[in-house]
Amino acid sequence: MFDMHSHILSGIDDGAKDLDTSLTMLRMAQESGTRHIVATPHVIEGKWLPSWERIIAGCEQVKQAAEQEGLSIEIYPGGEVAVYMDILKEIQGPGPYCINGGRYLLVELPAMEIPSFTEEFFFRLQTRGITPILAHPERHPRIAGNPNRLAEWIRAGVLVQVNGASITGRFGKKAMETAELLLKSNMVHCIGSDAHSAHTRNPRLGEVRQKIGSIVGQENVARLTRHNPANMIHSRDVDIPEIKLADQSHKPGAITKMFRMLWG
Ligand SMILES: [Fe+2]
Repeated sequence: MFDMHSHILSGIDDGAKDLDTSLTMLRMAQESGTRHIVATPHVIEGKWLPSWERIIAGCEQVKQAAEQEGLSIEIYPGGEVAVYMDILKEIQGPGPYCINGGRYLLVELPAMEIPSFTEEFFFRLQTRGITPILAHPERHPRIAGNPNRLAEWIRAGVLVQVNGASITGRFGKKAMETAELLLKSNMVHCIGSDAHSAHTRNPRLGEVRQKIGSIVGQENVARLTRHNPANMIHSRDVDIPEIKLADQSHKPGAITKMFRMLWG
């Protein structure tokens, strides 16, 4: 099992409060079947803006402590980058803030809004050789109300990470129903715990694998929790099946047209 989204590093954002908490979270993850975890601290202008070097150093510190504790879980650096244009100065190509310093970048929207420059943000990353992975869109009210918009982003090359706790229902009925719809529609490419602590928002994903299996079968469990994540970590291409969204119009929407215009 690969966990592609976590806040296990301490002293950077609102995740683990200290190194002991980081280790408790890693032990919990390992006990639930996770063997690989990406540390993705928030990167948000005016709130948390850790340097890439700080994130790498945080990973090294946790790795060493985990080894001393006898844990056998692989830890990779990354970031959860908020959609805002200024951060693009720091992200000129594959490397800083990307998963394992490669070519996939976890990106998050503001909690309630979709900024007007979101498509341009994705497009600029793509022109720099980076594939955006949108974090937990199932929790976003604008997307839950209109998954067609997400489908257009995916058709334009954006990938999707869904939270395990959304699938099991911890974020409420709407997020659970949206997560299920996205899974059934082939609109999910990897899973993360988005763990912030060892308590309510913890890194356990064992139950999540079972639930995904009951919704879309074991073949998709392997694709979403092992094959795709391994390819993302090693900057290889990812399996992107055709979207099967029941009420999706076959006519390209305004966003698809805009991407086509941008690409020329
Ligand atoms: Fe997160």
